[in-house]
Amino acid sequence: MRIDIVAAVPSLLDSFLGHSIIQRARDKGLLTINITDLRSYGLGKNRQIDDYQFGGGAGMVLMIEPLVNCIEDLKAANQYDQIIYVTPDGKKFDQSMANSMSLLNNILIICGHYKGIDQRIREHYITHEISIGDYVISGGELAAAIIADAVGRLVPGVLNDETSALSDSFQDKLLAPPVYTRPATFNGWDVPNILLSGHEKKIDEWRFEESLRRTQMLRPDLLEE
Ligand code: ADE
Repeated sequence: MRIDIVAAVPSLLDSFLGHSIIQRARDKGLLTINITDLRSYGLGKNRQIDDYQFGGGAGMVLMIEPLVNCIEDLKAANQYDQIIYVTPDGKKFDQSMANSMSLLNNILIICGHYKGIDQRIREHYITHEISIGDYVISGGELAAAIIADAVGRLVPGVLNDETSALSDSFQDKLLAPPVYTRPATFNGWDVPNILLSGHEKKIDEWRFEESLRRTQMLRPDLLEE
């Protein structure tokens, strides 16, 4: 899978997407993440990318021309399944969206900054608008990074143990069961005996019951869905 991201502050993405599972997926060639600095399409000697909004009001807006030039260049080189704008007024991102997006070949994510992007980009280029939650962060970069991480780790072959994505929280609308590692006793605090029993079927049952119990207690709304 290939994920292109257009950002006004690309350095916010480099570190986030350059470690652990996602970096290993990139090294293995399972996932290409290509970050384009919108500033390189900026206008004039100051490489301007934002301007005041028409009609007045606080906050700058990312200008149409640098974004159009950038998106057109990327579109000439790649055929995108989706061109996504990350914005608080988009559809709320969740695990089932991550699952279906992980099956796509090419996506382009446009990050807003300041007050957002010129509306005409949304009308003429954007195919999907996604929010990471009902709150506002300073720019779309972190939202794009979260989406790229959640989607990228689900790309087939990225996780060594394929079942480990299946047992993630939300994958089956349940929270994950608790996990433990060595030592089996610390400070007199014991790991549940069942996990030491070696009895696979009983362990699976215990995990399922714990998932259900935790979901009922912490996120009953998930069970209502
Ligand atoms: N940009 C600013 N806030 C955002 C949010 N909640 N989701 C996606 N993009 C954003």
